Amino acid sequence: MQTSSNRKKMVIGNWKMNGSSTANASLLRSVLPVISRFENVEIALCPPYPYLSAVADLLDDSEVALGAQNLSAELAGAHTGEVSAHMLHDNGCRFVLVGHSERRALYAEDDALVAKKFSTALQAGLIPVLCVGETFAQRQAGETQAIVTSQLSAVLNAVGVDDLVKGVIAYEPVWAIGTGETATPEQAQAVHRHIRQWLATQNHAARADCRILYGGSVKADNAEQLFLQPDIDGGLIGGASLDAMSFVAICSAAQDKTAA
Ligand code: 13P
Repeated sequence: MQTSSNRKKMVIGNWKMNGSSTANASLLRSVLPVISRFENVEIALCPPYPYLSAVADLLDDSEVALGAQNLSAELAGAHTGEVSAHMLHDNGCRFVLVGHSERRALYAEDDALVAKKFSTALQAGLIPVLCVGETFAQRQAGETQAIVTSQLSAVLNAVGVDDLVKGVIAYEPVWAIGTGETATPEQAQAVHRHIRQWLATQNHAARADCRILYGGSVKADNAEQLFLQPDIDGGLIGGASLDAMSFVAICSAAQDKTAA
């Protein structure tokens, strides 16, 4: 059976609706020379749609991958304002976030739509990063595991376990996103272990292989302790991915915490 040491750590920067041509180029000038040397961690950046192509060019010679923050559930056609999975692939994307809590809460994306987007991403050759997580009220009510399981089950029921584990899972407790309040390493590990055990009940091999990232106020000073947890395979980073020194420090923590 595989152990955590077989899963390469991963750090994804989600820039959300931030940046500009100038700011992106400046950020990449600072971080790329350092993070592209980190061989033990897979790194990806998710800029807003309009910058995908320019960021793809800037990433060109590096091992840092490109990702998008969202995609249309539809493949093509009359969907004004939407962006298809094939277009993302065509612009150099390898990853795409699916079901981010901001999409679920602010843009009414339900489990069925998230599952459809996950499936569409796979069809186009993208690796979906499925975001799950509970609100503060749900945690207070003791519903964390049930919520996370039901969000995962919606995708599992749509695509099957073999396709589910072609993606990456990101546990992002809603109460920790952009709040500066991080789940403690123990709180995060408990949910990650639950997810891995749930995967095992679906397919034993899936349990060991699937990468589960933590997201929610990961910063330079808490990344190391989070990445030390046996079921945390890296991070999905919002605010701190926009700050060169912080992002380099987080990637460095992941690089160092890849078990020898
Ligand atoms: P913060 O790191 O800003 O809390 O955002 C986390 C997140 O939503 C990443 O997708």
